[in-house]
Amino acid sequence: MATGPDSITLLDSLDALADWRAAQSGSVHFVPTMGNLHAGHLKLVEHAAQDGTAVIASIFVNPTQFGPGEDFERYPRTLAADLEALASAGCDAAWTPASATMYPLPEAYRFAIRAPAALADCLCGAHRPGHFDGVCGVVMRLLWQLRPERAVFGEKDYQQLLIIRRMVEDFSVPVAIDAAPTVREADGLALSSRNRYLTDSEREIAPALYRVLQALADEAAEQGPGTFDRLRRSGMERLASLGFRPEYVELRNAETLAPADGSDDRVFAAAYLGRARLIDNVAVTRQNRL
Ligand code: PAJ
Repeated sequence: MATGPDSITLLDSLDALADWRAAQSGSVHFVPTMGNLHAGHLKLVEHAAQDGTAVIASIFVNPTQFGPGEDFERYPRTLAADLEALASAGCDAAWTPASATMYPLPEAYRFAIRAPAALADCLCGAHRPGHFDGVCGVVMRLLWQLRPERAVFGEKDYQQLLIIRRMVEDFSVPVAIDAAPTVREADGLALSSRNRYLTDSEREIAPALYRVLQALADEAAEQGPGTFDRLRRSGMERLASLGFRPEYVELRNAETLAPADGSDDRVFAAAYLGRARLIDNVAVTRQNRL
């Protein structure tokens, strides 16, 4: 066990983690991350720190959730800065396992979780085959290692949040899953580690993704389910005309991800801007205008 900047406890072996966990008398709240932390991640830490519990964040760039040709190798790794940011956000401990700690068995012997098609084969899952299986597998491992009372996920990755909620429900994992709202730049762009791939001119275009989603959400609220297919196509066109390469624009039910039907709906989109793949989602209400 080592002590990092501002006295955050740095844990990088299962033994050290077990000692730390055994020393906690109260609840432990957990924030899983892949590092390169920004204000969105730190908001999750603040959320987790409510009512004076011990907060632990993990930093692990999980290879099993990246597809071939995705950015696993170049995913930004900024451990020293991350530890400082966590410490000043009030995080008590950081779990930074090596790959061999997370995946002790050779791939051919490794157990995996298959996320259900109804939740994982649409939206991002349709374009990133196996991605949510990888996310479920690593989150399940982390939950077993840490045994937190509560874990916090961001609505920015809404499909991930929902899949994790259903996974812990289905496996009766004794953890409460909390959602934290998306943290945005002043111009509306959702904070993301991948925003650093944007050039200056792409960065100017990027907030339009959120604006298009808000407009679609307003139109969907006003015009009703009969228009959703048209809205979806118009969203793709609007993004393309702004310079994005849209992957999908979809209206889905917020609990089941089935096609939206006019109650509890969300609008989801993923679009490339240069080499950055941006995702965002908003609820179909008229409340979240900038
Ligand atoms: P990562 O992309 O690092 O995100 C960690 C957590 O931060 C996720 O719950 C994500 O939704 C949240 N987050 C990211 N940007 C946010 C923003 N702008 N506002 C609010 N929350 C935000 O998501 C992952 O890592 C991984 O898939 C992980 C769950 C750690 C499993 O490997």
